[in-house]
Amino acid sequence: MSLVVRKARKDDAVRVVEFWNRNFAAGHMKYTGTNWRRDSSDLKQFRERYAADKRGAFTFLAIDKSTSNVIGVCSARSNERGRLSHRVDLGWWVDMEYGGRGVGTKLLLRALLEAKRRGFKKAEAEAAVINTSSVRLAKKCGFKVEGRLKAGMALDNGRYSDTYIFGKVLR
Ligand SMILES: CC(C)(COP(=O)(O)OP(=O)(O)OC[C@H]1O[C@@H](n2cnc3c(N)ncnc32)[C@H](O)[C@@H]1OP(=O)(O)O)[C@@H](O)C(=O)NCCC(=O)NCCS
Repeated sequence: MSLVVRKARKDDAVRVVEFWNRNFAAGHMKYTGTNWRRDSSDLKQFRERYAADKRGAFTFLAIDKSTSNVIGVCSARSNERGRLSHRVDLGWWVDMEYGGRGVGTKLLLRALLEAKRRGFKKAEAEAAVINTSSVRLAKKCGFKVEGRLKAGMALDNGRYSDTYIFGKVLR
């Protein structure tokens, strides 16, 4: 696989929605914290977000160069002002066809580098404790478990999973 990791641009939004919906339809997004199909309002939001490229709202994509398909997304958000604005929250998703091949690691390390470059002091993330691949990815990239939320995430089967709150001080 020939992989490129780069910042998202406005015209990537369509392929990000496609990425999301094909993985969502296959049940791959079951621990992601959002459980809806992306639609035209998400497309508009992604376009605006990628075009604006605000300090605290950036996205990195993994793209398979041979198909030009988006195969991974790492998204960051933070408060624009105030005492929490040194903290950035990260989320990550890799296409089900490409799992376990290091794509998530490359994406997340790149996003962490960018977070540091943008002056953030603390990266955070949240994952269901039963989401083994996400928990391993976070730990591999230097996040520590800083807490555990009881019933932090609603699952498709009507039950709830605890979630880990991950933190990493950016040095
Ligand atoms: C979590 C996710 C992004 C990992 O991406 P990935 O490209 O497979 O990650 P990598 O290949 O870089 O592997 C990272 C670590 O996870 C482990 N891992 C990957 N897939 C795994 C699996 N199915 N089962 C167990 N461990 C797994 C790898 O072994 C590696 O850990 P190690 O080096 O300590 O062995 C991907 O599984 C995913 O998109 N899942 C669905 C969406 C999701 O849950 N996102 C996270 C929301 S918090």
